[in-house]
Amino acid sequence: MTEKFFVTTALPYANGPFHIGHIMEYIQADIWVRFQRMHGHQVHFVGADDAHGAPIMLKAQAEGISPQELVARIAAGRPRYLQGFHISFDHWHSTDSPENVALSQDIYRRLKAADLIYSKPVEQFYDPVKGMFLADRYIKGECPNCHSKDQYGDACEVCSTVYAPTDLIQPYSVLTGARPVLKTSDHLFFRLSDPRCVDFLNGWTTTPERLQPQVVNKAREWLSGQGEQALGDWDISRDAPYFGIPIPDAPGKYFYVWLDAPIGYLASLQSYFESGKARANGEPRSFQEFLSAPETKQIHFIGKDIIYFHTLFWPAMLKFAGPPYKVPDNVYVHGFITVSGEKMSKSRGTGISPLRYLDIGMNPEWLRYYIAAKLNANVEDLDFNPDDFVARVNSDLVGKYVNIASRAANFIGRYFGGALAYNGGMETLQRQAQDIAQQVRDSYEGRELGRAMREIMAHADRINQEFDARQPWVLAKDPARRAELQDICSRTLYGFKLLSVLLAPVLPEVGTRVARELFGLDRPFRWSDALEPPQRIAAYQHLMTRVDPKLLDTLFDTDAPAAGSKAAGTAAAAPAAGPASTGAKPTAAKASAAGVPAVPATAEAGSAAATVSIDEFKRLDLRVARIAAAEHVTGADKLLKLTLDLGTETRTVFAGIKSAYEPATLVGRLTIMVANLAPRKMKFGVSEGMVLAASNASGGPYLLSPDSGATPGMRVS
Ligand code: MSP
Ligand code: ZN
Repeated sequence: MTEKFFVTTALPYANGPFHIGHIMEYIQADIWVRFQRMHGHQVHFVGADDAHGAPIMLKAQAEGISPQELVARIAAGRPRYLQGFHISFDHWHSTDSPENVALSQDIYRRLKAADLIYSKPVEQFYDPVKGMFLADRYIKGECPNCHSKDQYGDACEVCSTVYAPTDLIQPYSVLTGARPVLKTSDHLFFRLSDPRCVDFLNGWTTTPERLQPQVVNKAREWLSGQGEQALGDWDISRDAPYFGIPIPDAPGKYFYVWLDAPIGYLASLQSYFESGKARANGEPRSFQEFLSAPETKQIHFIGKDIIYFHTLFWPAMLKFAGPPYKVPDNVYVHGFITVSGEKMSKSRGTGISPLRYLDIGMNPEWLRYYIAAKLNANVEDLDFNPDDFVARVNSDLVGKYVNIASRAANFIGRYFGGALAYNGGMETLQRQAQDIAQQVRDSYEGRELGRAMREIMAHADRINQEFDARQPWVLAKDPARRAELQDICSRTLYGFKLLSVLLAPVLPEVGTRVARELFGLDRPFRWSDALEPPQRIAAYQHLMTRVDPKLLDTLFDTDAPAAGSKAAGTAAAAPAAGPASTGAKPTAAKASAAGVPAVPATAEAGSAAATVSIDEFKRLDLRVARIAAAEHVTGADKLLKLTLDLGTETRTVFAGIKSAYEPATLVGRLTIMVANLAPRKMKFGVSEGMVLAASNASGGPYLLSPDSGATPGMRVS
């Protein structure tokens, strides 16, 4: 029977480009989706940008653009990643869309009609200068317990005490530095603690096969909490100014971003249906018919940090909104990717920039395979380890898999003009193929991707061993043994075809090439092709190279000239002073120039720079500049070429920020430049100044941005 799937991945915040964690999630989901499609199942796989919320609003303000412009700029950068890693979304949309406004308001009205919404006054910190309520992360102050300064409003990073922002001593607004005041406002709540919700969720979360056991346990903990831990109602409104969807009949109030974010899954699906793409993908029904059909399976792939939203609020919202909305069938949760054992920061990731991975010419299918090999169906973290990566890709993909084809195909081409012939025993061979295919199929189906890869490679070992045992290179020397030679090479190529089909969800490009180029199919592989013994092959064409370990060095070498300051250059922005670095672990970021020439490493945090007089400082002409264009520089692995608009003129600057920024995401934003730096001739052209960025040993460069209101050409002093 053909299954009908509606599959999503979590909607990434639209305030920055994808990091390796996003790509890992997409690879996991994409492999599963492709596996289903190979069985002829219909899959509608959609994503979208999560556009709303205060961070995006504030970031846009800081850049002097509208949040819509910011979101559009980020969205424009998405396809390069998605195509680059072969992620086969059918559609990509945004939560800031008419579909999402209509769906969110509709769901809200239905919840209200079901008596699951109520209003209650909430007292909260308010920034009187900015004129807005402050979420905990925008309030800092002294820890009431250990008295460390500059701690966030929810917990102390030094002594780990958890408290309310109102407990902070000398609180201040991170946005303006103002002392926040307490102010009351009415908020709307979703009655999650209502017995109807709790009953429903007790049933939904424990339905067999729906959730992973670890996730069921988490949900059970939340649902059965008592006293302080009891399930609370959910505050779903935010006061203006807020970038979000207006709440019907509540002027000045907007849905909290997490209310409309998952509804964005449906908005993207609707937009996909209304674009005609679903029809082209074999689905004649309307969005509403498809969504509400009992056989439609709604499946969400997400990371472990957002389980609460997806296993409590989201199913409850859908359930009590009623048809055509339908509760999710499965929520599949993965752990986090770490890089060489290190956690990545939420906003910037660590060593691996997905774009850099592609830009330096690394094969996306290596990463797909490596991630598949390390994933299982549990909520476990996964480590990207460079040595392990090189070893696995080279020994499995190249050594075991690709080699099989090149070894056998050469004999078939040379002695048999491409014709295959089997010397009996076909039933056994086919039964064996069927068994392997079934095993691997079960593993994929259960998202045990690592197990699937191990099964496939174990079979590759068997094929290689049989080939070696029959010593075809000896057979080839004896014209009387041609039939034997043809038989072993044919069996081996049948095995290769089987492996190619089984690996196709992970290696879609190689799979398509093998199907077309080697076996002469006019379409990509289907799962059932695994069992068909091939009768002919075309000449073998090279399929995949080994990973050169040096590429990994390049991947991790994110030392921009500014950050590490290995680059030469005369002291321009900061007069040289003192020892470069004492080797002490820097604790604070320093501001430095990400332009070329860069400042030499002088004032690493911890060792203060010598003082300068105000007159010396005034000799610097610092200006607000708008990045009018940004592009990669052929042959430069650290630099981006920026065109800076100073209001009255434009400048070209080569900046060492390639490791941290994707050019498309820079266009339009404001930054600060040193405008009177002596021009410097470089290999790639003349650099006419530099831009300022912050960095230290553990992060950066981070470009500086002026506050909202600044315009190109303004003098910084
Ligand atoms: N916008 C919300 C999701 C809304 S869904 C209706 C969000 N965005 S996010 O950009 O922070 O994260 C998107 C996805 O990436 C989440 O599933 C999250 O778990 C995942 N990851 C973020 N960091 C990750 C790793 N280091 N490793 C793997 N996945 C990670 O949350
Ligand atoms: Zn403390």
